[in-house]
Amino acid sequence: RDPEEKLKRPTPVINIETRKDVMSLELQKFCEGSPIALIHGLTTQLRMDLSLFSTKHMMEYFPMEQIEIRDQLKMDPDVNVTVNGEPTWECTSEKKWSTIGDYGAYQISHFKASLKEDSEKVRAEKNNKYGGDSQAKRRRTQNAIPDETRQFQVIKFGTNIDLSDDVKYKRQLTELAKMPPFCRIIAGCNLLSHLGHTVLGMNSAQMYMKVPGNRTTAHVENNCLASVNINVGPGDCEWFGVPYEYWSAVNELCTKEGVNFLKNPWWPNFQQLINEGIPVYRFTQKAGDLVWVGPGCIHWVQATGYCNNVAWNVGPISYNQLAMAAHQYEWNKLQKYTSLVPMQHLFWQLAKNVRVTQPRVYMLIRGMLIRSLCYAKFVATWAESKLHMSIMSQPKKQGDGALYCKDCLVEVWNVIFARELKEKFQVYCAHCVLKHKDENGIHVIQQIPFPELVTIYNDFQLHMINKPPVLA
Ligand code: LMR
Repeated sequence: RDPEEKLKRPTPVINIETRKDVMSLELQKFCEGSPIALIHGLTTQLRMDLSLFSTKHMMEYFPMEQIEIRDQLKMDPDVNVTVNGEPTWECTSEKKWSTIGDYGAYQISHFKASLKEDSEKVRAEKNNKYGGDSQAKRRRTQNAIPDETRQFQVIKFGTNIDLSDDVKYKRQLTELAKMPPFCRIIAGCNLLSHLGHTVLGMNSAQMYMKVPGNRTTAHVENNCLASVNINVGPGDCEWFGVPYEYWSAVNELCTKEGVNFLKNPWWPNFQQLINEGIPVYRFTQKAGDLVWVGPGCIHWVQATGYCNNVAWNVGPISYNQLAMAAHQYEWNKLQKYTSLVPMQHLFWQLAKNVRVTQPRVYMLIRGMLIRSLCYAKFVATWAESKLHMSIMSQPKKQGDGALYCKDCLVEVWNVIFARELKEKFQVYCAHCVLKHKDENGIHVIQQIPFPELVTIYNDFQLHMINKPPVLA
């Protein structure tokens, strides 16, 4: 194949034909070995009732639920231009709010209008072919929308519907729980199930409602976690994916194109990536298809039909996933960007809950624990000796989320500088508290005592499955 063709990577696709295939180790290995993968037949074999996620069902049962709306300009997936027609990677849209009922009505009326337009086109073509009546032709020409305007039709994207309420969405979540464990929202083998609290859209599902042209701009999942996305249909979605190894090349291109990889919405140009030697996966996700997005994979999605999608994150407990998540955590700190996965908290949870059998995973977790323990001890000693503050002990309540610095957005773990304001806490890290230390009401709080952490650290051991034979 010529070099350009080689960069257009063939999609890793798997057809699931039996229920046994769904639960097989091969499927898990196939997914975990692919940057991105398309899985046909899985939802059918599991007899999942995807109609519970249809617009009809959602409008009937949850018409008043909130939905985030993005106004977008309808363009071909290979194109992203400004309103003046100049190529750009920037893809901004204002955030608005609506209800499922209103968005559903919009999606349906858009669908009906497009059906009408299609049948008019067919009729016009027939008329053209057979001569047609010139009066009707004239009428059509007069009413036709000029090309430039047509190119920029404004369409609404209904995004981030929160399905975290397990009472309200019991039926939907029961369907999703049929997934094989490595794809489940809640599973012992999923890092995110060890957090002990909900991170919306990560260890809880979110839904997307789309009309043709709606775009999810290019991104890597929070902290490079893997994700699972099901197209409920009826229409298709077109997917693009770039493996994690090309992150830095794509990041450089983003800078050149004037967008910030992490913080701005952007739509890369497919051909430009290929020309730069960056391989891209490109494929169609049909109704019922599941897309596995591997750890760190850069991806972007455009609806080519009318469809709803449901998605969530998963974290395989593998060296690759943990190393990427930890690396992204540090990069986010440098970029002053919140890591939705509080990695320090997570590593301590893993040490408490998980039986680790892989030496590399064990060493990585242990390394993170010792660094986090040393840092917390250093901050506590510094607060007492240099800031002359006395540390108050206040254990974390079950289900409490992670804490983030109000100024620089980093996770503040275990030794926390906080001020109570109108029954809410304002939290600061050890760096930012220096700007506030003379203000009234700032305390330093410790959530887990050091002796308890030392015990967790010492009790965390490697459980070798195949121990080397003992020589007599
Ligand atoms: C979508 O379906 O549009 C998005 O959720 C894509 C994604 O990143 O899962």
